[in-house]
Amino acid sequence: MHQIVISSEDKAEKYRQLIPQVEALIGEESNQVANYANVAAALKECFGFFWVGFYFVDSPEELVLGPFQGPVACTRIGYGKGVCGTSWKQKETIVVEDVEKFPGHIACSSLSRSEIVVPLMDKDGDVVGVLDIDSDKTATFDSVDKKFLEILVSRICKNAN
Ligand code: SME
Repeated sequence: MHQIVISSEDKAEKYRQLIPQVEALIGEESNQVANYANVAAALKECFGFFWVGFYFVDSPEELVLGPFQGPVACTRIGYGKGVCGTSWKQKETIVVEDVEKFPGHIACSSLSRSEIVVPLMDKDGDVVGVLDIDSDKTATFDSVDKKFLEILVSRICKNAN
């Protein structure tokens, strides 16, 4: 499934509806694998993104692949490597309009054209993982996605702590 292009207002409204649904979905469940799997599925289903998934900090050097929806992906990503490893290192969301213009981008799929990576922080502010969303079109993600996905991951992490 390929995502359709929607206005910023329509996109914001979709996130406003999705976030409480996701909170309800994961609120009663303590198993985090189940919860992250459902969050990936909910985002993929709602927006039709090309790839949605999580990478978790596995050691001080590496992220390891977690629950995801979409094509097979790279299993491990080094600290500071690619968009995910850079988001981990910088402790901030990274929006990439064109992956070909991001130095060191890791191409798990040649179809990926733009992406957003949002770090997951624990209550001490340490990064425990990242949410990575890829699009098969350039410039899919903007400040609306950044704002709502940061809210979404903060709710997931609150649930995890
Ligand atoms: N594009 C990512 C690698 C992960 S895949 O896209 C699923 C990156 O450069 O961090």
